[in-house]
Amino acid sequence: MLCRVFLLLIMTLVVQPFALQAASQQHQEVEWKPLIVYYSLSGSTAVVARELERALGCRLFEITSLRRRTGFWTVNCVIDQLFDRDDLPGPVTVDAAQYNPLILACPIWIHRFASPMRTFLAGRSLDGKEVFVIVTHQGNCGVKDEQAIRRFLAGRGMQVKGYAAVLTRNRTQAEIIDATRQCIEQNFFDMEKAVSITNN
Ligand SMILES: Cc1cc2nc3c(=O)[nH]c(=O)nc-3n(C[C@H](O)[C@H](O)[C@H](O)COP(=O)(O)O)c2cc1C
Repeated sequence: MLCRVFLLLIMTLVVQPFALQAASQQHQEVEWKPLIVYYSLSGSTAVVARELERALGCRLFEITSLRRRTGFWTVNCVIDQLFDRDDLPGPVTVDAAQYNPLILACPIWIHRFASPMRTFLAGRSLDGKEVFVIVTHQGNCGVKDEQAIRRFLAGRGMQVKGYAAVLTRNRTQAEIIDATRQCIEQNFFDMEKAVSITNN
């Protein structure tokens, strides 16, 4: 009996440090594995997202929508925003829960996240996730919109570590890339401090 207790004690002492180390490594992996999730209807946010991917070297996932949204069907975007209608999402091939932080890039539609992004976030459990937000807009987007987006994300248990707004009106692709680079250079992705950058 004494021998068994002794053996158990030895095993605990030998195995425990390795188990703790493995758990800590796993914790770090989950915490510091970024994923860029973006939606783009007309291409501007895609430019931002691809520049982020290039600069950060992390995985990129594009949210797709099965709803018609171009030409006359832009009306569908308006209906979604005004009546809080869910999107008809395309296939989702990533498990966002496996990543942290999430970098969300999304156009502003009527002062809110575009519905495909809202539907993506509402459809999964992202409680406790740290998120960086980059919205694109045409100049009609201010502090109230930022606050509403922060509230929306906080309401789903996410911690907003950074918020940036990139103006796309009358901007070339190169200028949008430049604005995105500025965000990165301003230590936007510093996990320790929450920042807000408005690029007009
Ligand atoms: C339905 C709809 C609503 C929009 N609402 C706003 C708005 O409230 N404020 C604003 O500044 N821009 C607004 N925009 C402009 C887009 O946010 C902007 O053009 C954005 O960069 C588009 O990104 P994308 O090219 O990735 O789709 C709206 C665009 C659409 C299609």
